[in-house]
Amino acid sequence: MELFVDTAIVEEIKKAKELGIVKGVTTNPSLIAKSGRSVKDVINEITTLIDGPISAEVDESDAETMIKQGIEYSKMHKNIVIKLPLTQDGIKACKALTEQNIKTNVTLVFSPAQALLAMEAGATYVSPFLGRMDDAGFDAKKLIRDICEVRDYYGYSTQTIAASIRNVEHMNIAMLAGSDIATVPLKIIEKMYEHPLTTQGLKIFAADSKKK
Ligand code: G3P
Repeated sequence: MELFVDTAIVEEIKKAKELGIVKGVTTNPSLIAKSGRSVKDVINEITTLIDGPISAEVDESDAETMIKQGIEYSKMHKNIVIKLPLTQDGIKACKALTEQNIKTNVTLVFSPAQALLAMEAGATYVSPFLGRMDDAGFDAKKLIRDICEVRDYYGYSTQTIAASIRNVEHMNIAMLAGSDIATVPLKIIEKMYEHPLTTQGLKIFAADSKKK
């Protein structure tokens, strides 16, 4: 399973890059707002840092407006993926952008039926939101498994990006459910390295190595 970093803060993307295991970046309007910069400004800088898929989200609107904005963003760099909402207009925009060979990521997916609509429109990626499913008491592992099963049964090539990852347990869910990708905040990626028995084991090795 590939790891993307879910942030629009350039310093975090630089740190994630240094770890050597991050293959892409996702952003959304909330993350862009946190960065205090414009979408174009941030996305432009991200393209200089990571050579992999970079999701830039359009403003939710009618299909025509989202297509126009999607085309504009896609012209910024070959790695730009246009993130679209799971609405009737978002799905129309997904189809139109796919027909122009522009990669898409349909976001805010909470059911296999929604994922099917995105896959049928040719989405490159669908983003089920694990943390928000968990908050609302829904089974996020089942959602990802079901999306993958439907995708494989009907032969779509859409990849799943497990999003809204809030803790390491959400990572376990994404991995065990068979998600293709997880997009993860930097602080959670850093937590994935940690285990109390690793820390304890290192202390024992360090003490024993002084006995030589
Ligand atoms: O990738 C989507 C993610 O940023 C949303 O996370 O924690 O706001 O549900 P959250």
